Amino acid sequence: MKFFVDTADVSEIRDLAATGLVDGVTTNPSLIAKSGRRILDVIAEICDIVDGPISAEVAATDFDTMLREGQKLAKIADNVTVKVPLTPDGLKTCRALSDAGTKVNVTLCFSAGQAILAAKAGASFISPFIGRLDDISSNGMGLIADIVQIYRNYDNFKTEVLVASIRSPSDVTEAAKLGAHVSTLPPSVLRQLFQHPLTDKGLQAFLKDWEATGQSILDQ
Ligand code: E4P
Repeated sequence: MKFFVDTADVSEIRDLAATGLVDGVTTNPSLIAKSGRRILDVIAEICDIVDGPISAEVAATDFDTMLREGQKLAKIADNVTVKVPLTPDGLKTCRALSDAGTKVNVTLCFSAGQAILAAKAGASFISPFIGRLDDISSNGMGLIADIVQIYRNYDNFKTEVLVASIRSPSDVTEAAKLGAHVSTLPPSVLRQLFQHPLTDKGLQAFLKDWEATGQSILDQ
């Protein structure tokens, strides 16, 4: 499973990329707004930090403007993936950009039927929002299971399932068990994945016992 981080905070991205575990980045208009920066500057900086796909979302809702915005965002760097909403105009834009060789991430997916449309429109990624479904007492992980199963049935569907709106480490492991290709993680969830109290406890015991030996590996 690939790990993307879901933030436009460049210092967070730099910090997490240093772990060697970050395969890409997703942003959206809300995250860009939170950064307080110009989208073109932020995306360019992120593309310099992480080699993998960097999702930059269009802000228009009509085909002509979405296409022009997408083309402009794609010019920022080779690793930009243009993100479009799952609407008729968004999928038309997806087809046009994909045909021109630009990767597209179709966002705001909340049903398996929408995911089929995105695959048919040539999306490189489909982003089902599991947390927002769970928030309305629906079943986010059930949607991931359905999309993974459907995509596996068709060799001509090349779209990767990018699990979005993740809220916890268990969302990541459940999505991995289902075979989803990518999880996009809020930085806090990526940090939480490292943690286990028995790891901390075990390490403290090893360090204490080691200190008692008086040894140094580097001095031997
Ligand atoms: C990622 O591409 C999405 O924009 C993001 O995961 C949405 O997450 P949220 O529901 O926590 O805002």
